[in-house]
Amino acid sequence: MALVRLDKALADQGMWSRKDVKALIRKGQVTVGGIPETDPGRKVDRDKDRVMVSGREIALKEHLYLMLHKPAGVVSATRDERERTVVDLVPPELKRPGLFPAGRLDKDTTGMMILTDDGDLAHRILSPRSHVPKTYIALLDRPVTEEMVRAFAAGIPLKGEGECLPAVLRSRGEREGEVTICEGMYHQIKRMFTVCGATVLALKRISMGALPLDPQLEEGACRELTGEELALLEQRMPLGLGEIAQEKESN
Ligand code: URA
Repeated sequence: MALVRLDKALADQGMWSRKDVKALIRKGQVTVGGIPETDPGRKVDRDKDRVMVSGREIALKEHLYLMLHKPAGVVSATRDERERTVVDLVPPELKRPGLFPAGRLDKDTTGMMILTDDGDLAHRILSPRSHVPKTYIALLDRPVTEEMVRAFAAGIPLKGEGECLPAVLRSRGEREGEVTICEGMYHQIKRMFTVCGATVLALKRISMGALPLDPQLEEGACRELTGEELALLEQRMPLGLGEIAQEKESN
């Protein structure tokens, strides 16, 4: 059971300030289980209590989870003085205080991003120890070779950061590679290819965990995740790669 103050539960939804919420409650515009409630400090159960504001039911979600299709030219930050950020792309009806991008993509990288106000989930999907895979399509200046595939699987050394955990690289035709990693070092994929003598011309993230980028989601658009999608997001490395990575970490 998740008991919380009524004014906090409503303000957490991001539609009103705490002050506005208090005023709505005092004016008798908020009902709990169909009965008007005038005490902002009344405890409600987020999962069970039916709360309505001005006749409209409000889902009291503790956290918000959004999938965004990041376009190129937008920075992975909450706020920026000069640049447009991924949070700026969220429409007002989905905005909520504390929303931030779970992880970073370079300004020129496109594809799947998760925005949330849940720091614990962000940590779970980003920590290399969780072995949650992130898969990218990289357009290269040359074909993927067997040697590159082997180097990615063995763990590429990156200057100043030691060896990357084992990664899966597959050729996808002419000059395209599909890469799965379970870390998120700065410019990691671009630097891994550089070590192998190749240049990344374009990069797109196509999945996190077992959750693919929604093909219906246009660049710049975002939507809420379903409960099932949230579970897929936390799925660990397939094909035993997680265990290989774990073994490597403990050596
Ligand atoms: N690796 C990169 O080089 N860039 C990204 O944006 C993500 C992974």
